[in-house]
Amino acid sequence: MTSLPERQIRPASLALVKTQSTVFARGTKPVLATVVHEEGVICRVSMLILNKTAGVFSKPSRRKPYEFLRSFNFYPGKLFLHKLVLGIETSCDDTAAAVVDETGNVLGEAIHSQTEVHLKTGGIVPPVAQQLHRENIQRIVQEALSASKVSPSELSAIATTVKPGLALSLGVGLSFSLQLVHQLKKPFIPIHHMEAHALTIRLLNKVEFPFLVLLISGGHCLLALVRGVSDFLLLGKSLDIAPGDMLDKVARRLSLIKHPECSTMSGGKAIEHLAKQGNKLHFDIKPPMQRAKNCDFSFSGLQHVIDKIIMQKEKEEGIQKGQILSSAAHIAAAVQHTIACHIAKRTHRAILFCKQRHLLSQSNAVLVVSGGVASNLYIRKALEIVTNATQCTLLCPPPRLCTDNGIMIAWNGIERLRAGVGVLHNTEGIRYEPKCPLGVDISEEVGEAAIKVPRLKMEI
Ligand code: KG4
Ligand code: ZN
Repeated sequence: MTSLPERQIRPASLALVKTQSTVFARGTKPVLATVVHEEGVICRVSMLILNKTAGVFSKPSRRKPYEFLRSFNFYPGKLFLHKLVLGIETSCDDTAAAVVDETGNVLGEAIHSQTEVHLKTGGIVPPVAQQLHRENIQRIVQEALSASKVSPSELSAIATTVKPGLALSLGVGLSFSLQLVHQLKKPFIPIHHMEAHALTIRLLNKVEFPFLVLLISGGHCLLALVRGVSDFLLLGKSLDIAPGDMLDKVARRLSLIKHPECSTMSGGKAIEHLAKQGNKLHFDIKPPMQRAKNCDFSFSGLQHVIDKIIMQKEKEEGIQKGQILSSAAHIAAAVQHTIACHIAKRTHRAILFCKQRHLLSQSNAVLVVSGGVASNLYIRKALEIVTNATQCTLLCPPPRLCTDNGIMIAWNGIERLRAGVGVLHNTEGIRYEPKCPLGVDISEEVGEAAIKVPRLKMEI
C-alpha cells in the first residue's frame, strides 16, 4: 500500500486556541472489561515524580516490597501478574497514552485532542501539531500512568507509534519514548499505526485470525486480511484521498464550523449529524469506480462533484462562499449515502474474494471495521447489509476506540509481547517512517479476479 497524500496542510503561523484533554482511570471506562487487580493489592498511590527539566520521569523514590514480589510474578493473593504495556500515540493530531494489561484491561488512559485547533485553521498544520505534541506528551503520559496506579518500573515494555503518520508528529512520540525507555531500561515495541487500528477489536472480542479488516479514517482507507499479529494481506486501498479527508473537506466547504449544531464536531461527525435532517436522494450522485472490479477506493472525484453542486446551489440561493446553504443537510445526506455505498461495494467484493480463495472461514467469517470514519453509524448500517448478505459477522470497536487513542497502541504492544515479535532490547537505529505500507499487497491479484458483486438494496 502506498500511504495516501497528507490531509489539507496549511502554513504555520496561526494562533493556537484552547484544546481538550481527557483522562480515564481504571473503572471509569464504559466499554472496557472489569479490572482484574483488586484495590489495595496493586492499586496504590503512584510514586511517579515529574522531572520537568529532563523531560522524562524520575524513578520512584522507594522500592515497595510488592514491586519486588511482582518482579517474580508473585503477589499476595495472586499467583500470576499480567504483563503491563504503556502505549504512546502521536502519529497525527492526538497525543494519547494508555496502560493496558495482558488480558486487555485498560488501567489508565489520557488523551489530548488537537481537533479544535485544526478545525479553526482549516486543516492540520504539521508544525502546530508538533508543537502541541511537545507541549502535552509528558503530561499525557504521566496522567495515563497516574490513572493506572502503575509505577513506571512495573511496566513490561513501552510501545509507541513509529509509522505511518506525519513526520513531525511521529518524531515527538519517538524521541520522548526513547528517552523513557533508556531511563527505565525497558524493552521498546515500535508500532505500525494501521496494524494497531486493525487489532484493537481483539482487546474487546475474542476474534481469531484470519479476519477481514476495513480501516477508514482521515488519513487511510484500506481493506486487508489479517492472518496474524504482523501478517497482513492488502486487498485494496484508496487511490487518492481517504474518506475522512473528503468528509472534512466537504464540511469545510459547507462552512459547517459556523453551524450552531456542528461547530465543535470533526468534519465527518458534522456531516453525519446534518445528514439526519436531509434527503439523500435530493441529488443524483453516482458512486465512484463502478466499473473497476477490484477492491480499491476513490474519493477525490466525488469531492469535485460535491464542490460543483455546492457552487451551483450558492448561485441559486444567491449566497456567498462561507455562508451556510439551506440545502446543506441534503448535500450531507447525499455525500454520506454515496460514500457508504462505495465502501460497502468494495468490501462486499473483498469478502467474496476471500471466500472464493478460502482465505476466510466459509461459516464463521468476520469483518472488522475501524478508524475514525467507522464511528459513522450510517456507514456501519451499509456494511451490515453486506455482512448479512454474505453470512459474515460485523464487528466494530466503540467509536472512541475507532479514532486514534493510546489504548490501541498499548494493546498492540501486548499482542507483540505475547507473540514475541518486534520487541526490541536495543533501540539503536530505530527511526520513524512517515510512509509505510501495510502487509503484502495483493490488490492486483484481487483486480485480476474481477469478481462481480451482486446488487444489494441499500435501504439504510
Ligand atoms: O482515525 P482518526 O481519528 O484519525 C486518523 O485519520 O488517523 O480519524 C479521523 C477522521 C476525520 O476525518 C473525521 O472527520 C472522521 O474520522 N470522523 C468521522 C466521524 N467521526 C470522525 N467520519 C464520519 N462519521 C463520523 N461520525
Ligand atoms: Zn488512525
